[in-house]
Amino acid sequence: MKTIAVYPGSFDPITFGHIEIIKRGLEIFDTVYVAVAANIRKKPLLTAQERVHLVQQSTLGFNKRLRVEAFDGLVVDYALKKKAKVIIRGLRATSDFDYEFQMALTNRNLTDKIQTLFLMPSQKHFYLSSSLIKELVWLGGKVSDFVPAVVEKKISRKIAAE
Ligand code: COA
Repeated sequence: MKTIAVYPGSFDPITFGHIEIIKRGLEIFDTVYVAVAANIRKKPLLTAQERVHLVQQSTLGFNKRLRVEAFDGLVVDYALKKKAKVIIRGLRATSDFDYEFQMALTNRNLTDKIQTLFLMPSQKHFYLSSSLIKELVWLGGKVSDFVPAVVEKKISRKIAAE
């Protein structure tokens, strides 16, 4: 039987930290869906379509077992639709823990058919976040160590147009 996992997030924008988690996911599962949340509580800089496009561009040449889609509604409904048994989440510093614990338990209350699996990024990505990237670009800082060139270009253009 094929193992399928969903890696959901806002990806506003995708960073090398997310890419690392995607690669790790592909080592474990037959198929990984990167599920870009269309409607997020945060006010995103990029549209859902732009975020999906950047994830696709940043994972060009990755295995065909990787799919990238936008989704609306509950992540567990999306996962069930894809016949996934696992939701992958990256767990960085301890500050992530409460929020992730709350989400995983809420999802488990919604269905016991999906497990949440936490993967730890490497140390160099431990304190990385999408907001940090946007702030660095906004202030003219260098982000090439943290995001692919295509992401840097898009974010710079988007912020300059704001
Ligand atoms: N490397 C770098 N940064 C990472 C990372 C990694 N490996 N993992 C997480 N982050 C960062 C993100 O960049 C993001 O930074 P930001 O806050 O500065 O934007 C932050 O950690 C959290 O990001 P993310 O993983 O995208 O979570 P989120 O809180 O933005 O999105 C959803 C959470 C979309 C998965 C969740 O809200 C959801 O499932 N929504 C659908 C509706 C639903 O089902 N709700 C009930 C769920 S309980």
